[in-house]
Amino acid sequence: MELKRRTFLQSTGKGIFSTSGILFTAQHARSAANDRIRHAVIGNGGQGRSHCKAFSRLDDCEVAAVCDVDPERRALAAETLPNSSHVAQYEDFHKILDDHSIDTVSIATPDHWHAPIAIMAILAGKHVYVEKPCCHTICEGKLLVEAAKKYNKCVQHGTQSRSGQGIIDAIKFMREGNLGEVRMAKAINHQLRKPIGRTPDATPPNSVNYDLWLGPAPLRPFSQNRWHYNWHWHWDYGTGDIGNDGIHQIDVARWGLGVGFPKTVTAIGGQLFYDDDHETPDTQVVTYEYDHCYLLYEMRLWTDYKLEGHDNGVVFYADKGVLEVGRNGCEVTFIGQPKKKIGEGSDFGENINNFVQCVKANDPSKLNAPIDEGFISASLCHLGNIGVRVGRKLHFNAEHCEIVNDSEANRFVGREYRAGYELPKI
Ligand SMILES: NC(=O)c1ccc[n+]([C@@H]2O[C@H](COP(=O)([O-])OP(=O)(O)OC[C@H]3O[C@@H](n4cnc5c(N)ncnc54)[C@H](O)[C@@H]3O)[C@@H](O)[C@H]2O)c1
Repeated sequence: MELKRRTFLQSTGKGIFSTSGILFTAQHARSAANDRIRHAVIGNGGQGRSHCKAFSRLDDCEVAAVCDVDPERRALAAETLPNSSHVAQYEDFHKILDDHSIDTVSIATPDHWHAPIAIMAILAGKHVYVEKPCCHTICEGKLLVEAAKKYNKCVQHGTQSRSGQGIIDAIKFMREGNLGEVRMAKAINHQLRKPIGRTPDATPPNSVNYDLWLGPAPLRPFSQNRWHYNWHWHWDYGTGDIGNDGIHQIDVARWGLGVGFPKTVTAIGGQLFYDDDHETPDTQVVTYEYDHCYLLYEMRLWTDYKLEGHDNGVVFYADKGVLEVGRNGCEVTFIGQPKKKIGEGSDFGENINNFVQCVKANDPSKLNAPIDEGFISASLCHLGNIGVRVGRKLHFNAEHCEIVNDSEANRFVGREYRAGYELPKI
């Protein structure tokens, strides 16, 4: 019956085997132009549950399955859905990839799982909404972009500001030259993130699949501080706050400046505040150098005041004035004139709606936050972290995906994948 419900697209690619032994092919994609999209949410923490709400709110979409290695979390996610008793609940995402009735997946797992699941989903014929940062390393992000392109899938990145009409209008205004030449943008991430203390190694809760949570990361004992949410602050799974929150500001700054990969990256950072299990910096300053402009990233995780007007935001400095993009929306100030609002509109729900409409049209070219742009912004975050870890200026060769003449820095451009969790070939 499911098969009659829709029309299958023609096969385009080679298959690979899932761990359950079922052949994935890119042919499983459906033409959903005349039907409701059946969506699955993989990773059901706070953000996964926001995905459940946003996808289920759309008339042309139904959340048919949720998936988490933690049964409490997948049950909680299913409960938030209007059709909760009909929602399939899975521990293992491979089962979702094997389910041909699922058209689209969204991935809201920890960062180290984003690209591997996204690539496998594309190979299984799904369109993908992947949370930011789309990759844990630059190399796997490049592979994800190649997979999306090769199999012509809609792959939207969770940098939802790209779908905020207010920001779209403000950036258009600036890029049309109304502020003159824009020579610098500052991406600001100032907030208070409380210390996490120290937690000992322990036994994982009985009900969860800790091995599948670890996935490609090295085998290590369980610890509360490396588990839900706090994984953000550990290099094996997370990308620090530059990849967590900073990526939103860096993405807007890069978009406004109209630039891609930088010529050089200079980063400094460390822990001036935390004395706990954090591995990632609480203070970080990165300068990205381009031919005609600079992009600056400034992060402090120990300031809960907003004395400078922005906690999270971007300021573009141009010859005739500044454009500010922040929690108050977008504001423009011409030299000697009062600040005025420019553009209005929301973003998260619209980013998801835009994804669903592109899937229905089977047209990745209309995505507001396409994966190739998401990949470049994620790479800027990774380069900012690599610069901190090696402590010197980096020259990045985007074409070869390598840091020039720096073998120590290049160790962080890719990663080792635990046996059984290697990246698939595309
Ligand atoms: N776009 C945004 O504004 C925004 C906001 C918040 C979070 N995020 C992103 O969403 C992601 C999730 O964030 P969170 O705060 O919900 O984290 P979280 O740790 O609370 O939730 C992640 C969930 O994924 C599950 N998981 C781990 N491995 C899995 C696997 N192999 N298969 C299925 N489930 C698995 C975990 O058990 C957990 O429940 C992060 O990458 C974060 O950066 C984006």
